[in-house]
Amino acid sequence: MIEFWRFMKIIHIVGARPQFVKAAMVSRAWNSSDEEYIFHTGQHYSPEMSKLFFDELNLQKPDRNLNLGGGNHAEQTSGMLLGIDRYIEEIHPDHIVIYGDTNSTLAGALAASKRGIPLSHVEAGLRSFNRSMPEEINRVVGDHLSNFLFCPTEESKRNLVAEGIKENVYLVGDVMADALYFFLKIASKQSNILVSLDLQPKSYCLVTTHRSGNVDIKSNLKQIIDGLGGIDQPIILPLHPRTKKMLKVFDLHFSENVQLIDPVGYLDMLMLENNAECILTDSGGIQKEAYLLGVRCITMRDETEWVETVDAGWNYLAGADHEKISKSFYDFHPKEHRQQIYGSGDAADKIVQIIKSSLSGG
Ligand code: UD1
Ligand code: UDP
Repeated sequence: MIEFWRFMKIIHIVGARPQFVKAAMVSRAWNSSDEEYIFHTGQHYSPEMSKLFFDELNLQKPDRNLNLGGGNHAEQTSGMLLGIDRYIEEIHPDHIVIYGDTNSTLAGALAASKRGIPLSHVEAGLRSFNRSMPEEINRVVGDHLSNFLFCPTEESKRNLVAEGIKENVYLVGDVMADALYFFLKIASKQSNILVSLDLQPKSYCLVTTHRSGNVDIKSNLKQIIDGLGGIDQPIILPLHPRTKKMLKVFDLHFSENVQLIDPVGYLDMLMLENNAECILTDSGGIQKEAYLLGVRCITMRDETEWVETVDAGWNYLAGADHEKISKSFYDFHPKEHRQQIYGSGDAADKIVQIIKSSLSGG
């Protein structure tokens, strides 16, 4: 049978650190004969939050960068919406792909759907059921506007069905698991981070915190600082710029066991995660990476979208509560065997196959 592919024009909308990881995997799986455009909203702009990821992940340089970092939600989203809309007029894409749950995701969803461009959402169906999180609003709107919904987990598919979204919903696995499987070997060869920080494997905790509900509220940030201060182990904390800013605003300081470092690239991060004795985080992506690497995880939030990691006994929800944070460090030790809940590393291939087949009328 002869198959005819028309050369398609695809726009990937990215803007924030985790989206570079996700888009890198989908773009890697795409057929090079199609015209792929990387549209960067500029939501993340510091070199260590943006350019470093394009370089390390070998993601095609942005074809357009709106440089829309900073600003509040309305400023970011409206500027992005206008910028993406103009780009759609210029490129006339056949398909647009959005990733995750950031303001860049929301703007991409609005722009594509208003222009009637078929839209795919990678990482669809995730829910925290907490509408005070900006990400939850972005996810819900993104999912309801998308034509193709790519779910990483059974639970995320169930969430969509519960909201009445049943068509073109595909359980494909998680593209962040694809990325981890692909880059871990490369990281072990190329990263020198353990030596440069003088770290012995399994002798330290790795911590990240940037969730606005944690770091923009002084009492919550103080709880996290106090919780980490109660841990009798060296802590490495790559500091997100939002958190760096808020520490200054609130005049708060971590205790001496916490070593603050600049945000690191993806390869160094994988090495830090893989060799940590324990990970404490409020990141979505890092909860999954901890699970995939078999590192116990304490999540400094009251709820998570990645409920399977908690159900499996590898993730403990401590909230922004200093007692629960330090106590769980001593008491929480996963026993159960881990199952493969995020797919086998071929989520991006499946996504690309489904989109291409729809574009060719299949
Ligand atoms: C955003 C996403 C969040 C995601 C996170 C990944 C939304 C609503 N939030 O949160 O879902 O988990 O990215 O890291 O979309 N800043 C810099 N340099 C940068 C980026 C940010 O200095 O490269 C500073 C700026 O002061 C900026 C602040 O950090 O105002 C917050 O950045 P923003 O992109 O608005 O939100 P994040 O907290 O990064
Ligand atoms: N990450 C990284 N360097 C860092 C912190 C995070 O490479 O200093 C990676 C991390 O391994 C994961 C992704 O960035 O792949 C997650 O980003 P983040 O925690 O900022 O966002 P979230 O997943 O919470 O939206």
